[in-house]
Amino acid sequence: MSAALKPIQVGLLGIGTVGGGTFRVLQRNEEEIARRAGRAIRLAKVAEKDLDKARAIVGASVELTADAFAVVNDPDIDIVVELIGGTSVARELVLKAIENGKQVVTANKALLATHGNEIFAAAQRKGVMVAFEGAVAGGVPIIKALREGLAANRIEWIAGIINGTSNFILSEMRAKGSAFADVLREAQQLGYAEADPTFDVQGTDAAHKLTIMAAIGFGIPMQFSACYTEGITRLAREDIRYAEELGYRIKLLGITKRVAQGFELRVHPALVPARRLIANVEGVMNAILVKGDAVGQTMYYGAGAGAEPTASAIVADLLDVTRMHTADPRHRVPHLAFQSDRLSNMPILPMDEVETAYYLRMRVEDRPGVLADITRILADLAISIDAMVQKEPGEGEQQVDIVMLTHLTREKHINAALARIEALPVVSGEVTRIRLEELGQA
Ligand code: HSE
Repeated sequence: MSAALKPIQVGLLGIGTVGGGTFRVLQRNEEEIARRAGRAIRLAKVAEKDLDKARAIVGASVELTADAFAVVNDPDIDIVVELIGGTSVARELVLKAIENGKQVVTANKALLATHGNEIFAAAQRKGVMVAFEGAVAGGVPIIKALREGLAANRIEWIAGIINGTSNFILSEMRAKGSAFADVLREAQQLGYAEADPTFDVQGTDAAHKLTIMAAIGFGIPMQFSACYTEGITRLAREDIRYAEELGYRIKLLGITKRVAQGFELRVHPALVPARRLIANVEGVMNAILVKGDAVGQTMYYGAGAGAEPTASAIVADLLDVTRMHTADPRHRVPHLAFQSDRLSNMPILPMDEVETAYYLRMRVEDRPGVLADITRILADLAISIDAMVQKEPGEGEQQVDIVMLTHLTREKHINAALARIEALPVVSGEVTRIRLEELGQA
């Protein structure tokens, strides 16, 4: 290690759960990190509104300020770590840091998914790095894997459990039959959930992360607004149970796929065969499957949230940036893995055009001809049934649940079929529709 190099100076914006973890990891592994980086990485300045809270975490050794702009404008700071979250002030701070020629590390997936194109363009012009391993799947190094480890491949699809809170809720609902609201409260107490937990349970957080993975997997711009997003709030316990009886688990998946006409980009609950490794990812853990044409399927698993797992990703970025910040920008790995003037402009497919299989549950009159009416509608739309179960009616009940699994079909065909099935007088209420993904080698 070169003794001549002075420590790299890091300015931290926001010292909440992840910021505190970052401070601890930098301190605890100081020597190991310096051995890797070739110089010390020093947390020099922290911006935090609550100065008492910040002082309690960092002690006397670090300069504190309540003004985040005082960090991004400080000429002594080499790398700005943005951990304040949100998309308005965070955007201004990151753009200002770039304008000031600083390197940036951020774990802010919402910011990158919605303003990433602007931020990376600014960074490109200025010749600075914006590193973001902590933005997707916490401590799982999926960004590095997609951007560098799999760089030989034409990526075919990515499918992941990328929201720990939702996965925790689904796991507890399945294992203990717990109610949705109770498990959500527990996840919030454990510090997994976003500040606004609707981002977790409505799929927004997963959509942010998926948008980022699609961009670096396929070399496309960030297109969060084109991502189809459906959360777990409407999942019923009986669907989790029926799926299990049929050999499936329900998971909130983020899926992005290369198809002939463009790319699929979608977040929604999905049945996954219980024998798949990813179906057995439980609790707050995250897992991402990546299918590359040369490597086949690979899977990345680990803690997707929490103070030190996320700090693990942030500190890895600090190491990368420390090693590379003096390198010619043309010799660095491009922000989005592909050269910025070589991004693909193939479109994101509308959900209507997506092809997948489906789980359908409907409540129907228990009398002759009902099933024939339903299957005729499906046949008219060329939807083929893969499996079907009629549940026993409850004591004295005239209606039964029918559960069907379909083969692959287009979303617009299923929608058309469901509209016609729901209009049948023998069918009561809405048909429950959950997509089904085999996630096999094909
Ligand atoms: N709230 C996120 C989750 C963690 O539950 O996975 C940070 O991305």
